[in-house]
Amino acid sequence: MAAHRFATRMVSWQRTHGRHGLPWQHTQDPYRVWLSEIMLQQTQVATVIDYYARFLEKFPTVIDLANADIDEVLALWAGLGYYARARHLHACAKSVATHWQGQFPPNSTALQTLPGIGPSTAAAIAAFCYGERAAILDGNVKRVLARHFGVETDISQAATVKTLWAIAQREVPSLALTSREPDAMARYTQGMMDLGATVCTRHQPKCAACPVRSSCVALKQDAVERLPLKAKKSRDKPTREVDLLWLTCQESVLLEKRPSAGVWGSLWCLPTDTGLAARWGLGEPLAMASFAHELTHFTMRITAWRLQLTVRDRPLAKLTTAQRWVAIDELDSYGLPKPVRTLLAPTPPA
Ligand code: ADE
Repeated sequence: MAAHRFATRMVSWQRTHGRHGLPWQHTQDPYRVWLSEIMLQQTQVATVIDYYARFLEKFPTVIDLANADIDEVLALWAGLGYYARARHLHACAKSVATHWQGQFPPNSTALQTLPGIGPSTAAAIAAFCYGERAAILDGNVKRVLARHFGVETDISQAATVKTLWAIAQREVPSLALTSREPDAMARYTQGMMDLGATVCTRHQPKCAACPVRSSCVALKQDAVERLPLKAKKSRDKPTREVDLLWLTCQESVLLEKRPSAGVWGSLWCLPTDTGLAARWGLGEPLAMASFAHELTHFTMRITAWRLQLTVRDRPLAKLTTAQRWVAIDELDSYGLPKPVRTLLAPTPPA
């Protein structure tokens, strides 16, 4: 049996071997920590770093973000994906500004009432900023706990997740430890994330470098590669065909704001109704590019239909309030879905 509790070993390991230079560390400002945690959901650290800096430069406080236009927020978010996160982010900032006098709630229970903040994100913010003894459970932490405590059931099942939450809560640093070391919760939480990202990785884990290897059930039973157990998805991802109308006139392109619900909600996109051109008497567009775009639950097969208008024909396009001509050199200030941005870039995919 190991000499020290799991949490004690994790805290010391984080101090010597964890990551210390990430831009959202060494702050206890809930706004900064919250922003990083939302960006890091489903997105890698390396990608988040630049977005995080740009966001903070534009919106230094939660009030600045709350007062921003959603289009500004989506434009800065473009490329990070999962745009519901950006809409929740904005809604959350507004909620903090109006219902919490511009101060983030002071504990994980209250943090969870805000848009886009689930139990694990709430716990991470509370642990980093307030030292609260709250447990996190993201994908990496599930893997660490399933291996270390030998959880042999399918981690995509709700019952397994419940078991993992119970383990996560049981293992947080004790009151004795947090009273002795006030930063123990922040270190422990970061340590769990760091261990999952750098040592207890999905493939080729570096067990020799693990601070809790002496008590790891999976290591003892030679089950590290096999755990966590995850049932294979039974069906392949479906494909959805999407047609885009790529109407240009001189240096402008026609964009349409998507409805707030659904894929690419509230982003600016090329119109998906390719019959528009013919109905406006502009002629038939030509299929110009066709490519696949992978989303979480399906693959999009996108075909772009191109038509270039003369200045004389342009008034024939009877725009709705959701449509506008946008100069190519102003596209950066619009939130565009990634494949649309790629398509409109100087060299579109063939
Ligand atoms: N992923 C989620 N939160 C993180 C953090 N604070 N540091 C590194 N990766 C993370």
